[in-house]
Amino acid sequence: MTESSQLHSRGRFITLEGAEGVGKSSLLPKVRETLERYDIRVITTREPGGTPLGEQLREVLLNTSEPMCAKAELLLMFASRAQHIETLIEPALASGAWVLCDRFTDASFAYQGGGRQLGTERIGTIEGWVQEGLQPDLTLLLDASRETSVERTQKRRVLDRIESEGDQFFERVRQAYLDRAGQHPQRIEVIDANPDFDTVCESMRQALAPRLEAWLSLSVDA
Ligand code: TMP
Repeated sequence: MTESSQLHSRGRFITLEGAEGVGKSSLLPKVRETLERYDIRVITTREPGGTPLGEQLREVLLNTSEPMCAKAELLLMFASRAQHIETLIEPALASGAWVLCDRFTDASFAYQGGGRQLGTERIGTIEGWVQEGLQPDLTLLLDASRETSVERTQKRRVLDRIESEGDQFFERVRQAYLDRAGQHPQRIEVIDANPDFDTVCESMRQALAPRLEAWLSLSVDA
């Protein structure tokens, strides 16, 4: 890759998804390390959050004790996302950095669409308006059985507002994620998160390798 093609090629947008307790937070630094081995400039961020306003919204979303209606929850997720896209994600991608984001809109389809049973149609409408066509280039979806997830989340002492939901909610979240993967097989790579951490890391590397090779050779040709 020449210096000028590196400067002018747009970065790639990679998201990490999965229900609670699938090991997303532990895997994120490993994904970053894998990308950096290819000399890729990576910006790591998260949703809800990622900007000062988004982090304030995250606090409201996760820790408000007042019951929050599902529509308010969905709109606050997208408020955080709108700010995130405009002030961080788009400028970073335009500068050639790659953005690695802990959750994005698939989480709204899974949690608010599936978990809260708001359905997919209205989420799709808001998505179109807020994202104006922006979609991740790749989504790594960690999928684990509810038993595995519960075992892992039980190690956390304090559960937030959403983590405190029950089994049926999380079964719906998991199913909605798998439905998304079925609808977007090119973009969403499902990784079995039931095995030990090293095995999950290896699956992540195998999922990344062919894409990285294709994308990096494209940048060289550009
Ligand atoms: P995290 O703790 O894994 O970062 O996720 C924060 C919580 O927010 C998690 O319970 C999932 C939830 N969430 C949604 O319900 N909808 C969304 O659109 C996003 C991004 C997160």
